[in-house]
Amino acid sequence: MTATPRKILIDTDPGIDDAMAIFYALASPELDLIGLTTVFGNAHVEVCTTNAQRLLDIAGRPDIPVAEGAARPLAMPYRGPAAFVHGANGLADVALAAPSRPPHHLAAAQFIVEQVRAAPGEITLVPIGPLTNIALALMLWPELPQHLAGIVLMGGNAFVPGNATPAAEANIVNDPEAADLVFGADCPIVMCGLDVTEATIMSSAQIESTAAIDNPRARLAAQILPFYRDFHVVAGGLDGIHVHDSTCISYLLAPERYRSVQHPIRVDTGHGVGRGKTWPATRHALHHEAWAGRREVTILTEVDADAVVALELARLAR
Ligand code: RIB
Ligand code: CA
Repeated sequence: MTATPRKILIDTDPGIDDAMAIFYALASPELDLIGLTTVFGNAHVEVCTTNAQRLLDIAGRPDIPVAEGAARPLAMPYRGPAAFVHGANGLADVALAAPSRPPHHLAAAQFIVEQVRAAPGEITLVPIGPLTNIALALMLWPELPQHLAGIVLMGGNAFVPGNATPAAEANIVNDPEAADLVFGADCPIVMCGLDVTEATIMSSAQIESTAAIDNPRARLAAQILPFYRDFHVVAGGLDGIHVHDSTCISYLLAPERYRSVQHPIRVDTGHGVGRGKTWPATRHALHHEAWAGRREVTILTEVDADAVVALELARLAR
């Protein structure tokens, strides 16, 4: 007797690793991807929307709706695209066909609310970009958390340094105010932060192995992953890539491959060097007023990296 697939809605800024996470979800029968919402981040939101649609076309799923979201953070200007990481077009500057249909008529936050109202308690939000759309949905419908199965997000850094700044991870520092709102939501939240994503490495050899897989998703992966690997070589001397966004999918499919701790989280929304840092309330801060009343977040701290990279590559080949 197969279990009913878990409904997920991915909020994304594709983005090379976003593309891999979306393909991973689509190749996993345990999951039912009901929609994509797009947000600024790795590229301007319009580019992210076009890329999200292209990815679904390549995967043979043009039926899945794409709703465009925020073009900028809640309370600051957009820092601009990360072209040096993902390419000017967000997908390693690979030339791709135009999308087969227009985006959904609703904005992302409204789409999220509409989908959750239609399936109360069933949907897990999987944000893998800045958290602006999720924060806007919370402002639109404050009761949203009570009707979610949960949130599994890629972002933050609990006990390790940042990657966008010494203090902060890219998705969080792209909208700290939104992130602080989201980490205060009263629903189950899992943080797939740099603590595990930078410990999850897909090697150059594994990247090269995607070229031997004969399906449209793997063919695109083989085209875009080398660009992402080249950034990691230059930025940190890594002969491979950090598996950031796909970690959310691996956690949903194989939570037993991770270890975690439970702490409430606040985000530094100041304008100093610590802006965007995710701060867990560990024992010596547990009763500090700033964390008071906040639900504990499941913070992933350890991963069986070999197992989850093998699982993702196996799904890419399906
Ligand atoms: O820090 C990694 C995160 O920033 C990933 O989501 C990547 O796609 C970028 O958005
Ligand atoms: Ca992303």
